[in-house]
Amino acid sequence: MSHLMHYPDLMVCVLAAGKGKRMRSNLPKVLHPILGKAMLEHVLHTVEELQPKKIAVVTGDGSEQVRAYIGQPANLEWVIQDRQLGTGHAVRQCENVCTEVTDIMIVCGDTPLLRCETLDRLARHHQHSAAEVTFLSARLDDPFGYGRVLRDADGNIIGIVEERDATDEQKRIREVTSGIYCVKQKVLFDLLAQVGNRNAQGEYYLPDIVPLALQAGMNVQAVDMDDAGEIRGVNNRRQLAEAERVMQQRIIEDWQLAGVTIEQPETVRIEASVRIGMDTIVRAGSQLNGSTCIGDECCIGPYAVLENSWVDDGTRIEAFSHVVDASVGGSCRIGPFARLRPEAKLDDQVHIGNFVEVKKAVVGEGTKINHLTYIGDAVLGRHCNIGAGSITCNYDGANKHLTEIGDDVFVGSDTKLVAPVKVGSGATIGAGSIITRDVPSQGLTLSARPDQRHVPNWQRPTKRSS
Ligand code: UD1
Ligand code: MG
Repeated sequence: MSHLMHYPDLMVCVLAAGKGKRMRSNLPKVLHPILGKAMLEHVLHTVEELQPKKIAVVTGDGSEQVRAYIGQPANLEWVIQDRQLGTGHAVRQCENVCTEVTDIMIVCGDTPLLRCETLDRLARHHQHSAAEVTFLSARLDDPFGYGRVLRDADGNIIGIVEERDATDEQKRIREVTSGIYCVKQKVLFDLLAQVGNRNAQGEYYLPDIVPLALQAGMNVQAVDMDDAGEIRGVNNRRQLAEAERVMQQRIIEDWQLAGVTIEQPETVRIEASVRIGMDTIVRAGSQLNGSTCIGDECCIGPYAVLENSWVDDGTRIEAFSHVVDASVGGSCRIGPFARLRPEAKLDDQVHIGNFVEVKKAVVGEGTKINHLTYIGDAVLGRHCNIGAGSITCNYDGANKHLTEIGDDVFVGSDTKLVAPVKVGSGATIGAGSIITRDVPSQGLTLSARPDQRHVPNWQRPTKRSS
């Protein structure tokens, strides 16, 4: 952002009450996620950057769900629209909270691609031109579904017509309205009071304030958008996927410019709240989701999935690893085919190899767990080596129990540690042991092994011929 925005005389109304019928969903439309964040969240973050005096969000259908999801930011007012009688009707419900400001900006909760720079341009144009009504317009190759801007022979705006009310000739107009308006507070509610609902949908349309304002001799302005894609509204799942594609491209480009190498970017998913350090490489097919935060000089993937996880500098998360709600220290090597589950906390220089699962366990610096192992409900010290096929038997069928392992412990392959159990520092456990009691520090501990026999002159069976 080039400058810090601040609009103390502006109130923003976000319209989010619509049923979203075209989504065919039980989830309110504005809660459908785009790259891990609800559409409405994207819109609210964008609007907040303007630093307006207040934000009103109009909810109706599923309002409880919407409020529970968004929470209660300090400058946010919730407004209820009991019946969804149209966008104009929705704005009217805000009359009581739209006070002590000069201008009201109206933004739809279903246009997640909007940038704050664009809203800033709209607000500045509105103020500089001293207009009563200003709206964002754009030229779309496929204007289907949008309100079309009607102009006279001299190019003056004369009105807006919705898709469902448009004649075939009007449907060919490529200039559309975004549904985003800036209106002087002192005229908005008078204009809305005059809006009727005699149209194809029987709704009170917000865009109808445009002809009403013109009839009253007011100054109406359209601000043409640089990037028409920004106003794309999401009304169905096809448009949801398209909006996600556009946003993904933006996020990937931002990370590339911030010094992250992304191999085959079209195959990579990086959600909106993810953070990535410089000189990190994200390899093909990887997914970085939720609040994942990756340090500098890491290498992720190919085909790794990380969710809500922390990865410190210089760590490699190799192919096909799955890391969820975990934290990984610096210079670690994880995978290929590793699984880190919630509350896995690895210190620096830890090695986790193929087909190893770690859950709710702390693993000390430099410890290696390289093959085919399950570590759950455990605390492991530094510089241990856990042999292939070892298992912390943490669950007795009713409760989980803890395994505690000191520093410099060597656990032989195929050891079962039956929790609760403690292993002292420096201990060595012989391969194939079943450990049911605490293991002292130092020395060798091993459980009795089955006897080994040799049968000389034994013949392998041969296959009978039928
Ligand atoms: C709307 C505009 C259209 C514009 C397009 C841009 C109207 C009548 N049409 O059409 O000119 O080109 O957006 O995307 O304004 N909502 C309410 N209460 C209601 C109805 C809608 O809060 O009673 C909310 C919806 O939740 C949604 C927004 O208003 O977030 C827009 O409604 P939607 O039904 O998506 O309008 P569009 O047909 O997309
Ligand atoms: Mg819409």
